[in-house]
Amino acid sequence: MLQTALHFSHTLLKEIVQPGQHVVDATMGNGSDTVFLAELVGKKGRVYAFDIQEQALQSTQKRLDEKALEYQVTLIHDGHQHLENYLGKEEIHAAVFNLGYLPKSDKKVITLPETTQQALDSCLQYLARKGRIIIVAYYGHEGGQAELTTVANYCQKLPQKEYNVLTYQFINQKNQPPILFCIEKK
Ligand SMILES: C[S@@+](CC[C@H](N)C(=O)[O-])C[C@H]1O[C@@H](n2cnc3c(N)ncnc32)[C@H](O)[C@@H]1O
Repeated sequence: MLQTALHFSHTLLKEIVQPGQHVVDATMGNGSDTVFLAELVGKKGRVYAFDIQEQALQSTQKRLDEKALEYQVTLIHDGHQHLENYLGKEEIHAAVFNLGYLPKSDKKVITLPETTQQALDSCLQYLARKGRIIIVAYYGHEGGQAELTTVANYCQKLPQKEYNVLTYQFINQKNQPPILFCIEKK
């Protein structure tokens, strides 16, 4: 069976992330990507995970504690657009964005085109060669389409000399299934 965008995002991360590396979860939410990345980087690596909602930090902390993964994760209660204030001098080998709202919470707290673009700019500054930025865009909610357009334009304009850019989507499904973008630095 073909993988969902979410599943495929993990496949793309697993292919390149190695123990000891630094990575970013730009939209921690309930922490499933944070946990996944923490397992990949191991105790010598570091996951910087961002969210603007306290609730996201609490659920993620709980999941990390249950799996004894808290050691290699820095949970940051701030917007991903301020990423540069928290990362060290190390390059990052991957960053993941799940755009949209936190399931089962306030649907008005959503990622926004301008701040998403700022965060993407910052991630590119830190991205190592062969590193990947994965964006899974949910866009069925109010404001989602505008953000999808911004992200698609942003990705499309990246110079081919420096980046490979991929999009992955199901084109015959109802209810606006998420669309995945992957930016790989050459
Ligand atoms: C689709 S959810 C993420 C789901 C998450 N990957 C998971 O496993 O549950 C999007 C998240 O982005 C967060 N968010 C919105 N704006 C943000 C920003 N500027 N910086 C960081 N997180 C933000 C929301 O609070 C929400 O938790």
